[in-house]
Amino acid sequence: MNQDAASLALDYAGSLFLDEAQQGKYLKRWEHTLRVAAVGRKIARAEGLNTEAMTIACLLHDIGYLECRTDEDCDHHGAISARMARRFLEIVGYGADLTEQICYGILIHTEEEKEFPRPASAFELSVADADNIDRFDAWRMASILEQDKFSEQAPQRIIVAAERRIGLYTGYKSVRVGTPTARMLWDRCLDMQICFYQRLRAQMEITAAGQRISNTP
Ligand SMILES: [Fe+2]
Repeated sequence: MNQDAASLALDYAGSLFLDEAQQGKYLKRWEHTLRVAAVGRKIARAEGLNTEAMTIACLLHDIGYLECRTDEDCDHHGAISARMARRFLEIVGYGADLTEQICYGILIHTEEEKEFPRPASAFELSVADADNIDRFDAWRMASILEQDKFSEQAPQRIIVAAERRIGLYTGYKSVRVGTPTARMLWDRCLDMQICFYQRLRAQMEITAAGQRISNTP
């Protein structure tokens, strides 16, 4: 049974997120889930962690969204996902020790470290790491840029927004991660974003300076 557990988890998560009754509401969540699973596998392979269990954990880490009814539920969807994952893993007969690690990793991916019921292992921390790495990679950056509508804004406003992002992402560099591989992938995402916003700011500074010159009588 364990041999097929990752594909069963794929089918299970897909059936929830892509359920016709949801009318596409969770399509982006599903796409994110697939990418998180790919990042999780990359971390697991590089770090000698259980790749199958990591794939399952990542595939199931957000399924709790389907049962969230309040903002509070959404903030702690890890706990709901973990309960659903445990039920699923018991039904498929997955090993008790790995089930515990998978569910704990899913549970803590939405919690502050000071709220963890117990210290987390590298495996358990890697679920949140894979999630965060996808959340700060190019696709999310593109969607944020779309929302920001910089093409419609004045250079000064773009400079302010760019500085805010540079500060935010520089601060995120001190976020604790579970493995050296996650550190490398996390830093790569943040460095990409910091580099982009630094260049954007530099260009807007030139633009703003040019506007000042041209406005001088
Ligand atoms: Fe999540």
